[in-house]
Amino acid sequence: MSISLGMPTLPGQQDPARPGAVSRPAGVPGLLDRFNRVATDLRVSLTDRCNLRCTYCMPAEGLPWLDREQALSADEIVRLVGIAVRDLGVRQVRFTGGEPLLRADLIDIVSRCAALEPRPEISLTTNAIGLASRAQGLADAGLDRINVSLDSLHAETFAALTRRPFLRQVIAGVDAAAAAGLGPIKINAVLLPGVNDHEAPGLLRWALERGHELRFIEQMPLDADHTWSRDSMVTAADMRQLVDAEFTLTVAREPRDGAPAERFIATARDGSGLTGTVGIIASVTEAFCEDCRRTRLTAEGSVMSCLFSHEETDLRASLRTGGSDDDIADLWRGAMWAKPKGHGIDDPSFVQSDRSMSAIGG
Ligand code: 5AD
Ligand code: SF4
Repeated sequence: MSISLGMPTLPGQQDPARPGAVSRPAGVPGLLDRFNRVATDLRVSLTDRCNLRCTYCMPAEGLPWLDREQALSADEIVRLVGIAVRDLGVRQVRFTGGEPLLRADLIDIVSRCAALEPRPEISLTTNAIGLASRAQGLADAGLDRINVSLDSLHAETFAALTRRPFLRQVIAGVDAAAAAGLGPIKINAVLLPGVNDHEAPGLLRWALERGHELRFIEQMPLDADHTWSRDSMVTAADMRQLVDAEFTLTVAREPRDGAPAERFIATARDGSGLTGTVGIIASVTEAFCEDCRRTRLTAEGSVMSCLFSHEETDLRASLRTGGSDDDIADLWRGAMWAKPKGHGIDDPSFVQSDRSMSAIGG
């Protein structure tokens, strides 16, 4: 499916540097790519650091972190988000990491982005450690919504999976976010075979009882240890089956509208009346690349057009050498024009990127 731009199909022009290739048509606003997708959803990684070591994301010893001066400052982030919303048609901004709560200036960044015109919708993807004391401040600063990563409700499994014993802090963070009105809260759970897949119905029950939306996510090959295997991963079809033991699922009727999750209404089979929405994000087996509306900024200020792209476009150099907003917007448009058609994870020729999820921003 292509996304309607509200304008006729663009003819493009021959690129003199690459005969046969079509270059980005001049004068087109927004983050258009060669496959007629337009990115309106910006993910900003605020740091590559994290206080967990989820096995599917980071090695036990961590990664070589960026130096403080390599990461973008709050001023630089707010400037880039400003260019994105004013000049490039971005409407939603999600702060991620690593763990974005590790930035001491997070509340300042949120409040300055909330003051931009047009005001973007602002959300946060977090592991919720330390959220309990900051949820209200974030809500007051203008944060609209929150997604929390939580893969297990059993202290031992949580500690094995994240290599840290912080389950209680995470749950306190989720409760504080709900009390601060940062809903609807989405809980992201990556299911790993033989580790937490048996918890699927329990996680769903826990989320529905609190009025949160659970989203099961297929594990993608983004682990620094490169241990992902297509044969052993828990697929979306497996997830539906795991949940089916305790819940009926019916496809939710509203249009997906570029969202990665396929949404279902889950109803408990035990007659308790417990019901609510559950999402399944089938990034690998039912890829949604053709409807992707995302553009990403890494913590050091490079555009990544796709989680799996092997190319990055540095905006920081231009930011730090007097580039104008127009210069930066042009670099960004060019980076997105080159966005690959899809990630091809399910293809035997797929090559995993050197960056792990924490270094890109989920
Ligand atoms: N596959 C799928 N999801 C992942 N995340 C991190 N690494 C992976 C991976 N390899 C998830 C986190 C978080 C979101 C930003 O991305 O659990 O919820
Ligand atoms: Fe940290 Fe998120 Fe990676 Fe876990 S998945 S180590 S919480 S960045």
